[in-house]
Amino acid sequence: MNRGRLVLFEGLDRTGKTTQSNILLERLKPNATLIKFPERSTEIGAVIDRYLKDKTFELPDQAVHLLFSANRWEMAERIKQLLLQGTHVVLDRYVYSGVAYSAAKHTDRMDRTWCLQPDRGLPRPDLTIFLTSDDAENELRAGFGEERYEKSEFQQEVKRQFVEVFKALEDSSHEEKLVHVVNVTGKSVEEVAKVVWDLVEPVVTLPTDSTYSELLY
Ligand code: TMP
Ligand code: MG
Repeated sequence: MNRGRLVLFEGLDRTGKTTQSNILLERLKPNATLIKFPERSTEIGAVIDRYLKDKTFELPDQAVHLLFSANRWEMAERIKQLLLQGTHVVLDRYVYSGVAYSAAKHTDRMDRTWCLQPDRGLPRPDLTIFLTSDDAENELRAGFGEERYEKSEFQQEVKRQFVEVFKALEDSSHEEKLVHVVNVTGKSVEEVAKVVWDLVEPVVTLPTDSTYSELLY
């Protein structure tokens, strides 16, 4: 059987990742599942949810970073099983959010290299789509500012970190041409969905190895 593909949406808060993940899921159904990170329904996810919503709940930056990674490891077996049984898995955020948001804090010694290590060995996406918008457009979307990290200055630094992470991946032999940047500014939901489908269709149609790869960095 052909294994399922792992398709990842990354981006800043409120750039339309969740909308696009759901549209893609519908197109790939019945042969697809959506997993969103953080997965807030698990034990670790509950702590993350509290951290994001309660700005008085403090944890060391390193601990928060490891919780987000642990949350992915909680779901890793399920993702592998789904892929091996031929189900496509659409991800709404994953390891690159982990790196970009944590590295944007500029905590001593917690650089991008440090941040990538706990995720090493997780299933590797077959395709990563980075949804971006022109400066600050995402901040006008409904709900912006409700959770921790939804602050203008911090979002700009996260964006810079995403760009750096993807540049480093492009330069490494492992992840070449697996990241596609889609600027959503001035595009309708349907227009973005079309650009997305043009990227996803060849990935889900072409034959692939019988097993998934792992993230190496
Ligand atoms: P969400 O808005 O997509 O539910 O994500 C919640 C916040 O968590 C968002 O600001 C991005 C942040 N985040 C991290 O800081 N590290 C991670 O590993 C992930 C997956 C999300
Ligand atoms: Mg959010």
